[in-house]
Amino acid sequence: VRPKPVPTQCVGPDYRSESQKPTAAVSVDVEFDTVTVLPQTPQLIALLSIIRDKDTQRGDFIFYSNRIIRLLVEEGLNHLPTVEHTVTTPVGRPYDGLAFQGKICGVSIMRAGEAMEQGLRECCRSVRIGKILIQRDEETSRPRLFYDKLPEDIASRWVLLLDPMLATGGSAIMAVDVLKSRGVPEERILFLNVLASPEGIRNFATKFPNVRLVTAFVDQGLDDKNYIIPGLGDFGDRYYTR
Ligand code: PRP
Ligand code: URA
Repeated sequence: VRPKPVPTQCVGPDYRSESQKPTAAVSVDVEFDTVTVLPQTPQLIALLSIIRDKDTQRGDFIFYSNRIIRLLVEEGLNHLPTVEHTVTTPVGRPYDGLAFQGKICGVSIMRAGEAMEQGLRECCRSVRIGKILIQRDEETSRPRLFYDKLPEDIASRWVLLLDPMLATGGSAIMAVDVLKSRGVPEERILFLNVLASPEGIRNFATKFPNVRLVTAFVDQGLDDKNYIIPGLGDFGDRYYTR
């Protein structure tokens, strides 16, 4: 009997050099400057490893997905405008800081995108949230729009569009088309996404050269059913029903 190999211990942010990282653990490079991939820290890779594992049960899937979503929201908020703002500290000294500027709202692509609403609410108290119900046809992978309900003044807000999965890009593209049809300029849309395929990124970023996209990881590609690989399966099913 051969002894089980001892896993290499991984320490610190640069836990392995880029050339030594296992292929599937390295986010694919992106050539669009509107796309931000979260820093590939050991924490993030460990969280992604949990939610990708087919044996992870629903409670853990929800808990660890929520942690990644929180990282995405915090990074996404860095893309919103600020103004210089000086405050006085309790010891009477000035602090030349910043203040947030502009009104925001969240828009989730139902159903899986709704899983990202809580992370946004935790960072932005009483944030307004709109919904767009888009479902991908299981046979053709084409998106179908069923419903939308958006804040009336959405055209004057920054919009954080929420969907954890970007596979072919069809659903996210359809959602941005809805936002644009309500007067939201591309420059004020920020798409927050957990897992993307290179194809989805390319389709989305080419169609909308001024929409910013923040993702936690760009995977290897799509399979013959247009599922992301290695992926994590069906996010909505794993978060809500399985
Ligand atoms: C999933 C996912 C995205 C879409 C991604 O939703 O949440 O919305 O598929 O695929 P695409 O980039 O090829 O369009 P789905 O339609 O399966 O519905 P769900 O949210 O109810 O799971
Ligand atoms: N939707 C998902 O939930 N997962 C995929 O891999 C593709 C679309």
